[in-house]
Amino acid sequence: MANKKVLLVYSGGLDTSICIPLMREEYGYSDVVTVTIDVGQDAADIAQAEEKAKIMKTEHYTVDAKEDFAKLFCWPAVQANGDYQGYPMSTSIARPLIAQKAVEMARQVGVTDFAHGCTGKGNDQYRIEFGIRALMPEATIHAPVRERNMTRTWEIDYAQKKNVPIQQSLNKIWSIDENLWGRSIEGGRLEEPDFAPPEEIFKWTSSIDKAAAKPSAVTIGFKNGVPVSLNGETFSPATLIQKVNMLAGQHGIGRIDVMEDRMMGLKVRENYECPGATVFLKAHKALENLVLTREEIRMKALIDQEWSRLAYEGLWWDPLKEDLEAFIASTQRRVTGEVKLSLYKGQPTVVGRNSPWALYSEDLASFDTTTFDQRESTGAVKNFGLQSRMYHQIRSKMEREM
Ligand code: ARG
Repeated sequence: MANKKVLLVYSGGLDTSICIPLMREEYGYSDVVTVTIDVGQDAADIAQAEEKAKIMKTEHYTVDAKEDFAKLFCWPAVQANGDYQGYPMSTSIARPLIAQKAVEMARQVGVTDFAHGCTGKGNDQYRIEFGIRALMPEATIHAPVRERNMTRTWEIDYAQKKNVPIQQSLNKIWSIDENLWGRSIEGGRLEEPDFAPPEEIFKWTSSIDKAAAKPSAVTIGFKNGVPVSLNGETFSPATLIQKVNMLAGQHGIGRIDVMEDRMMGLKVRENYECPGATVFLKAHKALENLVLTREEIRMKALIDQEWSRLAYEGLWWDPLKEDLEAFIASTQRRVTGEVKLSLYKGQPTVVGRNSPWALYSEDLASFDTTTFDQRESTGAVKNFGLQSRMYHQIRSKMEREM
């Protein structure tokens, strides 16, 4: 057999681990390169992936992508108020970066063949494959779990036959995906929409009864719609997210339980904990409401929604996304300032905001000023709703004749 190399996007979990012997024995690759992208998942998972790769003798790489993820994926999501059905899209926005880093690694080691462990039911297959093909059109991509319509039972059986170390996977009830922007927990009884999530699925957030007894006052500084500081101290993007995750998590903020419409059309019950994202998104919106005009806010909500759809679907390199981001960037020029929040018992409450570009004028809005001459409103109020009033005038005639 000629030397054939494949790059496996590797997490260390069951699905991707069985891909190693499969690539060698069923797909005809003599060399398997495994690459794990660190986007802020548990460090123990990364270490475990490294260890398993060593046992299974792959050429293994770990790529630290935390700062890239924070700066180039989480911050644009903040600027766009990124949200899909109540979910800050933590898993979704990590996939394009994973694809991008995999392609960069593939170029380094000189391969154009890829494998990933996504199933045929989820969204990740779209996101990963679009990302790889957008950045490397000549890529060949294998998805063994999907291509062989595998079940978990078959996978475990195969792993045991091929001496794939899966002890940790066997003990895992939940399927977890983790990065700086959030944690997603699926599987087991959680799939039942009516099953209340047990406390044990949460790792980053306290329950309300165990949450900190006193509120925390935090101030988030923004520059051009991007978070830059916490309580006056600046941090790198990834560090800032980690700090706010910790703080908000102690107050039980960011637990999300939704029915989610996947790209396939499947409705799936999803649980997330996104403490930091929840706080950043709330603060960002509060600042936008201070500095953008009513017209901008209205249009931006539409643009944000489209941006979020593209992000959810992993169409990160679609030109429409660039077009939408040009609009978003233009609005974010004034989204600079500070937002004060009180974090307490599951809720981030905005308690103050300021910006050099505030469109608020105390002189105009106050009850105690005469700058705004109230008498000038008379004509405007009188003609407000003119067409609606006319409708009510003709209504009785209409009901008689129609
Ligand atoms: N449904 C979410 C998404 O498509 C998250 C899926 C996370 N996967 C997991 N194994 N927990 O973005």
